[in-house]
Amino acid sequence: MTSFTLSQPPSESIAFIGGGNMASAIIGGLVRQGMAPELIQVVEPHAEQGARLLGQWPIRVWPHAQASLASAKLAVWAVKPQAFAQAAQEAGAHLHEALHLSVAAGIRSDNIAQWLGSQRIVRAMPNTPALIGQGMSALYARPAVTPAERERVQAVMDTTGESLWLSDESQLDAVTALSGSGPAYVFYFLEAMTQAGLDMGLPEAQALRLAKATFSGASALAQNSSESPQVLRERVTSKGGTTYAALTAMEGAELKRHFVAAIRAAQARATELGLEFGTPPGA
Ligand SMILES: NC(=O)c1ccc[n+]([C@@H]2O[C@H](COP(=O)([O-])OP(=O)(O)OC[C@H]3O[C@@H](n4cnc5c(N)ncnc54)[C@H](OP(=O)(O)O)[C@@H]3O)[C@@H](O)[C@H]2O)c1
Repeated sequence: MTSFTLSQPPSESIAFIGGGNMASAIIGGLVRQGMAPELIQVVEPHAEQGARLLGQWPIRVWPHAQASLASAKLAVWAVKPQAFAQAAQEAGAHLHEALHLSVAAGIRSDNIAQWLGSQRIVRAMPNTPALIGQGMSALYARPAVTPAERERVQAVMDTTGESLWLSDESQLDAVTALSGSGPAYVFYFLEAMTQAGLDMGLPEAQALRLAKATFSGASALAQNSSESPQVLRERVTSKGGTTYAALTAMEGAELKRHFVAAIRAAQARATELGLEFGTPPGA
């Protein structure tokens, strides 16, 4: 696993196929980093979403794939997994020269290579904190992708936060389950902590503020410490104390085992998505 730091914003033309949440997060990162918006074009069939993109940046937005896509040196595939095969059929023909970057959960690079007739494919699994430049992405490149091409992709993803490289494509399903879906688990815990605050008589706004600040503070502490989360936890858990009471209740309910099982369910779903939508309809 390697990571590079970005010094220059990308100066090559980039086409996004699909202009929803994830495309917006990446475009926002690129423009923030100083990339010229006119180098960015997006195929986005949903008119309202297209207008939203144009309201934010002076980029080019097309309702359908068209010939101007051919100028793109990098194609970012940011459609839902179930829409990928169809989108590839429509836009692929215009993108023969491009390096391809897919952010779609589950869809295997073997399928993408087959649909696009290219081996120059990188898959990325980002997460939604990318929207504020604090994303975490994992990347996998097919063997035909050169080190210089990896750096080009990394330069794009680095505008949304941190990234790391995987050597085995199947690990992307684990990443999807862990960090791709992970922000939702954090929001779930925030909900639970806020609920507990309410139940104990705190006003909701204060309970939420306490829960959010606890998550961000503890995460920052873990980031800045060389100690493991276990050691950090043990340091704040004196036997017979309040934290001890809560953790004993969690252990009694086998919360950790259930939580791990839940993440494994997400991994299994990522694998299923690849199988379900990996073959074009009718094939
Ligand atoms: N959001 C996340 O947290 C996250 C995290 C990691 C990875 N991802 C991956 O990122 C991908 C995009 O997710 P998202 O949340 O950005 O989805 P999204 O907001 O639904 O965006 C996808 C966009 O693509 C458009 N689209 C559909 N068919 C198309 C076609 N043939 N050509 C061009 N555009 C087309 C959709 O339009 P319509 O609405 O009209 O169909 C939609 O606006 C997914 O594959 C997901 O697995 C997302």
